[in-house]
Amino acid sequence: VRTAAVIPAAGRGVRLGPGAPKALRALGGTPMLVHAVRAMADSRAVSLVVVVAPPDGAGEVKSLLDAHALPERTDVLVVPGGDSRQESVKRGLDALPEGYDIVLVHDAARPLVPVDTVDAVVEAVRDGAAAVVPALPLADTVKQVEPAAAPGEPEPVVATPDRSRLRAVQTPQGFERATLVRAHETVTDDVTDDAGMVERLGLTVVTVPGHEEAFKVTRPLDLVLAEAVLARRRL
Ligand code: CTP
Ligand code: MG
Repeated sequence: VRTAAVIPAAGRGVRLGPGAPKALRALGGTPMLVHAVRAMADSRAVSLVVVVAPPDGAGEVKSLLDAHALPERTDVLVVPGGDSRQESVKRGLDALPEGYDIVLVHDAARPLVPVDTVDAVVEAVRDGAAAVVPALPLADTVKQVEPAAAPGEPEPVVATPDRSRLRAVQTPQGFERATLVRAHETVTDDVTDDAGMVERLGLTVVTVPGHEEAFKVTRPLDLVLAEAVLARRRL
């Protein structure tokens, strides 16, 4: 069974602060997106990577990827993204050729995911799961709050979910292609991850162990951590 990876990379990266679109920001001198593409291509299971570029940046992303070496066995397609992550993933799925029956969806903003994590996700889909997410236990206790009555007012806490049953989930998330396509065709509410859309179909999503280095680069401090992880790898 052939496996493709869709990489949504069309976001601006507002939380990272001013600068180039997040996926094009440098990490160890190389754009974050290139790290993310390599992380997928490093898995022997993955033979196609579909990059979803900023809407006006598909040409630039194509030349960028042409300029960086990838394993020979990996094909790369670049398509323009949309206004939301969901829309961008949908555009990537629409561009998938026939013959790829397993699809990974991986954030460009998780450039350092280890190949073992990618392989574990693929393997769980091959073993029959409709949807798979890498997941980690939480370090922090999580509170559910009521929205503040007015800006600046305190937010009353309404519940403390049992932390031992909560997980932070990462990408790549892995899917039977037909299931993910159906989810994107039928689920219209805002969901922040693809597995969440599959849950809305009433299907079971399973977890595999995530990895600390698969963290998402979201805020400036995450870039500091990512640079440190990369420097440690290069020792
Ligand atoms: N993404 C996308 N298309 C969008 C929005 C997001 O392809 N319209 C991608 C981002 O490029 C990123 C991934 O979805 O790789 C995860 O999103 P996030 O970390 O939120 O990135 P941004 O949306 O770019 O960041 P921010 O929310 O801070 O603007
Ligand atoms: Mg975002």
